[in-house]
Amino acid sequence: MKLQSNSDAETKEIGHRLGEHLKRGDVVCLYGELGAGKTTMVKGIASAFGINERDITSASFTLIAEYNVSVPFYHIDLYRISPDEVPELGLREYLGADGIAVIEWAERAEGEIPEQSIRVILHHIEDNTRLIEIKGIHMGTSD
Ligand SMILES: Nc1ncnc2c1ncn2[C@@H]1O[C@H](COP(=O)(O)OP(=O)(O)OP(=O)(O)O)[C@@H](O)[C@H]1O
Ligand SMILES: [Mg+2]
Repeated sequence: MKLQSNSDAETKEIGHRLGEHLKRGDVVCLYGELGAGKTTMVKGIASAFGINERDITSASFTLIAEYNVSVPFYHIDLYRISPDEVPELGLREYLGADGIAVIEWAERAEGEIPEQSIRVILHHIEDNTRLIEIKGIHMGTSD
């Protein structure tokens, strides 16, 4: 499914809709260049679980942020990680268990990402325009 977003609010709405379709064990991988809108999308996804979007931050300090809501919700940001450091993170503990994991810069840990993960690719089109491709989940009629 491909959706166009014309503002960060729209990207959050799309994230929220995706969040409503998630279930325990789901892993969502976010791909896209710096500023593509990955963290913005995570804010929307998290809002579907009652997490305040202000609590979702760009993880310059926190690599893995855990929120205990109706399900354990993990926001993982691998921006500062090099692929050779990935094994030390113990990602398996967070992926595909009883929680929901949302991963920015997932390509840095591709070897540890479950094959059946949901993939979200954000393409920066123009200043406020993004093309958001969502694969691996059915969210409605038009995918
Ligand atoms: N349609 C849009 N969707 C999402 N963000 C948008 C959009 N239009 C403009 N923006 C702006 O683009 C920026 C996206 O930042 P964000 O932190 O979400 O990106 P990111 O992909 O997480 O970057 P990083 O790689 O640094 O983690 C924000 O400043 C946001 O306001
Ligand atoms: Mg980010």
